[in-house]
Amino acid sequence: MVVIAVEELKVSVGGRTIISEATFTIREPSLVVVIGPNGAGKTTLLKTLIGLVKPVHGCIRIFDTIVHSGCRYPRHVRKLIGYMPQRDVINYAAPLTAREIIISGIIENIAMPRIVLPKNIDELVLDIAQRLGVENVLGKFFDELSGGQQQKVLLARALIKNPRILILDEPLSNVDEISRVEILEFLRDLVRREGKTVLLVTHDVEVAMNWSDYVLLVNNGRAVLYSSKMVEDVDSFLRQYPEKDRRIIPSRSPYCA
Ligand SMILES: Nc1ncnc2c1ncn2[C@@H]1O[C@H](COP(=O)(O)OP(=O)(O)OP(=O)(O)O)[C@@H](O)[C@H]1O
Ligand SMILES: [Mg+2]
Repeated sequence: MVVIAVEELKVSVGGRTIISEATFTIREPSLVVVIGPNGAGKTTLLKTLIGLVKPVHGCIRIFDTIVHSGCRYPRHVRKLIGYMPQRDVINYAAPLTAREIIISGIIENIAMPRIVLPKNIDELVLDIAQRLGVENVLGKFFDELSGGQQQKVLLARALIKNPRILILDEPLSNVDEISRVEILEFLRDLVRREGKTVLLVTHDVEVAMNWSDYVLLVNNGRAVLYSSKMVEDVDSFLRQYPEKDRRIIPSRSPYCA
C-alpha cells in the first residue's frame, strides 16, 4: 500500500528553489511529524502535496493516483486530504462563528460553483466538535475563542469531510500543554483506529520523538523520512542534516514510475 509517495520532487517559489530534492514513501497509516528550521520549506512542501504549489519536477502519488509536475492536480485526490494552514498566515478576524469555520472545510475543498451542503451537515459538525470537545463554542465568533479552542475548531474544519489524509501545519502552536496532549491523543486515535494518515508540522522536538511513527526532516532543500523508532538521540538527530549515507529508510520509491 502507498499512502503518499514523493519522488525526485523539486519545488521553486518566486524563482528560488526551496525543495531541491525530496524522495520518500509513507506506506501505511501513520503519524508523521514534519520538522525543520524556520524557512526550510515545510509549509511549501505540504502545499505542494495538496496542489497549492506546483512542483518544477518530480511526482507525487496519493494512494493510487500519480500527480506529475506536468499535470493538473486531480480534484478527487484533493477530496481525500484535509488541510489546516499555518495559523499565522490566516486572518480569522472576520465575524464567522466556529460552526461556520468548520463548515467552510467542505466548501473550500469541494470547490463547487454553487455551495451544496450535505443534508446532515449539522449532525456532522456536532459529531466532530464533540470529539474535539468544542461543541459548546460552536455559536461563538472564532475571534472570541481561546488559542487552543481555535486550533481545535481548525482541526475540525480539516476533518469535516472525513479525509483519509490530514495535513496540519503547526496545529499545536498557541496551545497549552493539556490541549496539546488532547489533540495529539485525538490524532493518534485517528491513525490507529480509523486508519488515517496525519502529517503534522511542529517545532517541538519532544512531540516529534514521543508521538510520531515517522519524522520527516526538512532542511537544506531536502526532505528525508526517518522511522521514529530508529531515532534514539534527539540532539544528534537534529544536528544532522539529510545525507544520503545516513538515510534510515531507503529513499528510492518504486511507486512513482
Ligand atoms: N509566496 C512566496 N513567495 C516567495 N517566497 C516564499 C513564498 N512562500 C515561501 N517563500 C519562501 O520559501 C522558503 C520556505 O518557506 P516555508 O514557509 O515553506 O518555510 P517553513 O519551513 O514552513 O518555515 P516556518 O517554520 O517559519 O513556518 C522561505 O525562504 C520563504 O521566504
Ligand atoms: Mg511553515
